[in-house]
Amino acid sequence: MATVFVSGALPGEGIEALRAAHEVVQDEGGVRSAAFEACAGRVEAVVALLTDRIDDALLDRAPSLAIVANVAVGVDNVDLRACAARGVVVTNTPDVLTDATADLAFGLLIAAARRIAEGDRLVRAGGFTGWTPTFMLGAKVHGATLGVVGFGRIGQAMARRARGFGMHVLYTQRTRLPEGIERALGATYVADIDELLAWSDFVSLHCPLTPETRHLFDAGRLARMRPGAILINTARGPIVDEAALAVALERGPLAAAGLDVYEDEPRVHPALLACPNVVLAPHLGSADRTTREAMANAAVANVMRVLAGEPPITPVA
Ligand code: NAP
Ligand code: GLV
Repeated sequence: MATVFVSGALPGEGIEALRAAHEVVQDEGGVRSAAFEACAGRVEAVVALLTDRIDDALLDRAPSLAIVANVAVGVDNVDLRACAARGVVVTNTPDVLTDATADLAFGLLIAAARRIAEGDRLVRAGGFTGWTPTFMLGAKVHGATLGVVGFGRIGQAMARRARGFGMHVLYTQRTRLPEGIERALGATYVADIDELLAWSDFVSLHCPLTPETRHLFDAGRLARMRPGAILINTARGPIVDEAALAVALERGPLAAAGLDVYEDEPRVHPALLACPNVVLAPHLGSADRTTREAMANAAVANVMRVLAGEPPITPVA
């Protein structure tokens, strides 16, 4: 029986299977909690959340650790190099959350374009005084061009939704996909991100947070977006310079934005909170019950396998 630290409450049945086989220490405070410190010396597995920072300092305190099972597909909270150096396996939860996250991203796109959240606030405040032909006009979704930055699992799922809405889809990333996949998705590759921005009415971010993508959307890049363009970010907050985004939303060229992720979560930049033309979601990308249970079960399955001496199901390379 090994000691497994679980960072907080998990939905679904998986946790019970873990409890039946191992000693489970669980604390909502995550790896910064006193409960983690108390078991760090013997812990062999950590079921981590994206709010847990797994770095050298933590690994030094947990010499028996064999696996970090992140309950997320993004692993920017984990120092992969430090884990590899110590032979600690890192796993994530790809695929099971792809459609849920694309659903949320497309929801933000429509909400931002058609001013749904702004309209909701107006109605509640008693501001709806009757239909007029010029009232609260937004941007057209059908027939518009969507530029996807990072055309992996979620980026492609976003493209499938966009095609259903009659949108044209462009994508950029470092690797061009085989022509057959491009054709099936109706997507056109644009190698240069700034060229993609020049053509896109909507831009949706689906790349991971890496040193290369941190502030990929800085003031200069935001300024190169089309006048009236709309930016959707469900990837990671630090990919966008939030202060610069607030300026671009206030003075142009952006008409609106839809955000699920923030530079310093759970803090949201006060300048963004003051922008009426940004729809703000509290990191809900994968937050439907079925998906969250599947993520938790996937993390538990990875832990069970590694502790049994078997290879993990979804290792992070
Ligand atoms: P994925 O399948 O690995 O796709 C990521 C894509 O990004 C890859 O195709 C990759 O292609 C591209 N990419 C990497 N570096 C890039 C760069 N410098 N510039 C442009 N493109 C780049 O990952 P996924 O499953 O779609 O997930 C994507 C991200 O979504 C996660 O890392 C996570 O941060 C975020 N996410 C957020 C939520 C949420 O709740 N809001 C939920 C799930 C995931 P190349 O390597 O060829 O460039
Ligand atoms: C959520 O943000 C994830 O990376 O799964």
